[in-house]
Amino acid sequence: MSTDFLSATLAVDRARVDAFLARAFEQRQPPAPRLEAAMRHALLVGGKRLRPLLVYLAGRSLGASDEALDAPAAAVELIHAYSLVHDDLPAMDDDDLRRGQPTVHRAFDEATAILAGDALQSLAFEVLARAAHPRLPALILTLAVAAGRDGMVGGQALDLAAVGGHPNVEALATMHAHKTGALICAAVRMGALTAVPEQDPRVAALDRYAEALGLAFQIHDDVLDVIGDTQTLGKASGADAARDKPTYPALLGLEGARRRAQELTDEALAALAPLGEAGDPLARLARYMIERDH
Ligand code: IPE
Ligand code: IPE
Ligand code: MG
Ligand code: MG
Ligand code: MG
Repeated sequence: MSTDFLSATLAVDRARVDAFLARAFEQRQPPAPRLEAAMRHALLVGGKRLRPLLVYLAGRSLGASDEALDAPAAAVELIHAYSLVHDDLPAMDDDDLRRGQPTVHRAFDEATAILAGDALQSLAFEVLARAAHPRLPALILTLAVAAGRDGMVGGQALDLAAVGGHPNVEALATMHAHKTGALICAAVRMGALTAVPEQDPRVAALDRYAEALGLAFQIHDDVLDVIGDTQTLGKASGADAARDKPTYPALLGLEGARRRAQELTDEALAALAPLGEAGDPLARLARYMIERDH
């Protein structure tokens, strides 16, 4: 039932966004082949494409066309891919495995990984800026704010500052909401704004959905780091505890963390009420996002 729907949608939309991303790479002849190869390794090998799927499902729920959603879907995945390349660097989480492959600094070298992340970030805004949409400035602004100081990068800074420390649950929620929640929120909001203006009350409902889901998603990522296995995850399990990372399971215990993720998912589902049946695909995706094993 819901799993079938989701795996079908995931497969179709994944192929859709991957084709769009592949075309973005082919726009021009790249001057630096090694950089190009590192960017492709980071972006096109593996990954669940959950953020593009959120863009597609949120946009469709309010009536946007698939064609209009392609650029925002690709842009948010480009930012996400860049964030993973930098997150894995020795100066950050120092990981060797990502999406079932050696991390970019392992497959290439550290400097190339830094540059590949930089260039993926620029490409995100290039892809978005090339799209013709009446609310393009709002789409660009949404992604820019979510990616930077007030969003993902700010959260990553909080994460690094908290290593070995003992943040309370509010501080942890703030960190997770920034490092991971912000891009989830941006994905949903870009989908929504592709369809309707910001004043539409369903945009606020989708914001509430995304906020709760974003936090639940990172809590579940923390849980998977404890209970998952490296092969299935495609990244090293147990890495958070090994590096003394502040996580929900470390603070609330495994069951406490799972309970919190479930409560937040219930909040996300409740927020979809104003969309009626049009919100069903987003509800299924939310459940999948905190039940997945990788
Ligand atoms: C991993 O995100 C990093 C987090 C922000 C939790 P995903 O679990 O979506 O990773 P990919 O894109 O499928 O590799
Ligand atoms: C990821 O958090 C946040 C990002 C902005 C990339 P994690 O460090 O927990 O992500 P994984 O577990 O390495 O994918
Ligand atoms: Mg990290
Ligand atoms: Mg990490
Ligand atoms: Mg993690």
